[in-house]
Amino acid sequence: MAVGWCADGMSPGETLPSVNQLVAKGDVAFSVQLSPSVAIFTLRPCSRNFDSANACDVILRRQDGWSSDELSRAASELEKRQSEVVVRGYPEMMRAKFKDDIPAVCIHAVEIVIGNQRFRTTKQEQMKPRPCAHAIVPKRKKRGTNNGNRFAKFMQFLVDTFGGYEGLSRGILDVAGGAGGLAFEISVRHGIPCTVIDSRAVKFTKKQANAIAFRERCCKLISPGLSISMLARNMHNRFQCTSFDQVQELLDAADVLASKEKSEKMKTFDAIVGLHPDQATDHIIKVGLRLSIPWAVVPCCVFPNKIVRHLKTGERVRTYEDLCAWILEQDENVKEATLDGVEGRNRVFYMLSEKKN
Ligand SMILES: C[S@@+](CC[C@H](N)C(=O)[O-])C[C@H]1O[C@@H](n2cnc3c(N)ncnc32)[C@H](O)[C@@H]1O
Repeated sequence: MAVGWCADGMSPGETLPSVNQLVAKGDVAFSVQLSPSVAIFTLRPCSRNFDSANACDVILRRQDGWSSDELSRAASELEKRQSEVVVRGYPEMMRAKFKDDIPAVCIHAVEIVIGNQRFRTTKQEQMKPRPCAHAIVPKRKKRGTNNGNRFAKFMQFLVDTFGGYEGLSRGILDVAGGAGGLAFEISVRHGIPCTVIDSRAVKFTKKQANAIAFRERCCKLISPGLSISMLARNMHNRFQCTSFDQVQELLDAADVLASKEKSEKMKTFDAIVGLHPDQATDHIIKVGLRLSIPWAVVPCCVFPNKIVRHLKTGERVRTYEDLCAWILEQDENVKEATLDGVEGRNRVFYMLSEKKN
């Protein structure tokens, strides 16, 4: 059987478990092992006329049941032997989820025959097809309140609500960014320009620094396959990081609004956001409202003794519930949503620009 198959009728993100027996045969045009858990390769038809449109991308993942040893053995054999490779697996049309994603189609291999050697996943029968879209989102261990995923969830909310990647292409101002959890999501995982404003210096964790190094290494390894493989192009786009800026000071709305230069600078951002921004909450809302810049906050602490706020009833804001009510009172166009899957303080308040509202 030749490589390639018809993906018509498949929607983005879809896998076809019923086609677990899909078979492709061809020569290896490009192959690379990216980590102990992932390798990709591209098959071309066993003929001289290679057209990348006929290429068939294949992915081997631990999530599909490959042991690290078997995956590495198959990957190194693919580098040695380049002809007459047979793959059995199931197809996926990858979902365009991250910035610049190309909706690539690939086969998730469950068995590969290279010459007289056979490599296969363990537990083939029990294996459930799973799409790639989630392959690079780390699983977090639950410890206390499970809000470690708040950065990823808030970021996804911003992309979904503020006009997608196009709507955020000029950049996001992350107010009270703290150690940089949200900045990492914005710039590294989603490739959107980001500026953090906080007196505290951003310091990526070892895990985040490793993730950046891994992405840079992958981009280098994948480069030779860019002209051949749609999957390689997709992964290259997905792994590219955007650097971010940092302004090490506190945001002060009165100061910004008094300065034409600072106000104009603020207007260069597509959104001003704050995740658990403590005392910066009021500053974000005030700057956003006065300069008509889209904004979003996920409030956390109230500081009832330090910050004096009054509800329309005249009552002082003392609790988290009061603070949420107070934010909603700031403008009739303020909207509210919930960051599903985030435990604890997960209410998000936001306002789009007049056009987007
Ligand atoms: C609870 S931490 C949250 C950090 C981060 N957003 C997170 O979710 O992990 C609050 C941060 O707000 C910062 N902060 C407080 N007032 C601020 C202001 N006016 N402008 C900028 N940052 C401020 C503090 O320095 C601190 O890093």
